[in-house]
Amino acid sequence: MIIYFSGTGNSRHVASLLQQRMKGEMVKIDAKSIDTASTTHLSPDSDEPLIWVFPIYSWGVPPVVVKYMSTINGDLARNKHYMVCTCGDDIGLAHKQWRDIMRSRGWNAVTAYSVQMPNTYVTFPGFDIDTEEVEADKLSRCDKR
Ligand SMILES: Cc1cc2nc3c(=O)[nH]c(=O)nc-3n(C[C@H](O)[C@H](O)[C@H](O)COP(=O)(O)O)c2cc1C
Repeated sequence: MIIYFSGTGNSRHVASLLQQRMKGEMVKIDAKSIDTASTTHLSPDSDEPLIWVFPIYSWGVPPVVVKYMSTINGDLARNKHYMVCTCGDDIGLAHKQWRDIMRSRGWNAVTAYSVQMPNTYVTFPGFDIDTEEVEADKLSRCDKR
């Protein structure tokens, strides 16, 4: 099962590549997932890996993903969980945050991977989208990574 959130498509691309190779259901996290009243029921097979795919937001897990994880009421303790994030540059300690959430839920965090993708962070002064050359270079390495 691949559970993904994507703001602008980079992480959806990576989630789709993983789905092509590994099969399994794709579960999309969207705006409804932050409805405080909602609960999410997931029922993966016990031997099925769970791949969490999302972009890095401010060196962390996007709040919508954190919120979504808190709404899950299925038994995911038997599954192996993997994090596959996309980032423009670096992930900071996002893998640690993800592991901490996993631990708090009693879920088995196996390992975390990151894939550099075109940058979408333009909020801070000095931050911007990539040049066309940098963007092309990241995209050329993405699928193999
Ligand atoms: C609000 C925001 C915060 C971001 N923070 C980071 C960051 O801390 N480190 C980083 O390398 N990229 C950061 N990025 C860039 C994205 O993680 C990256 O471009 C990602 O591939 C976008 O994936 P998406 O298209 O699935 O949303 C940020 C982007 C946004 C919009």
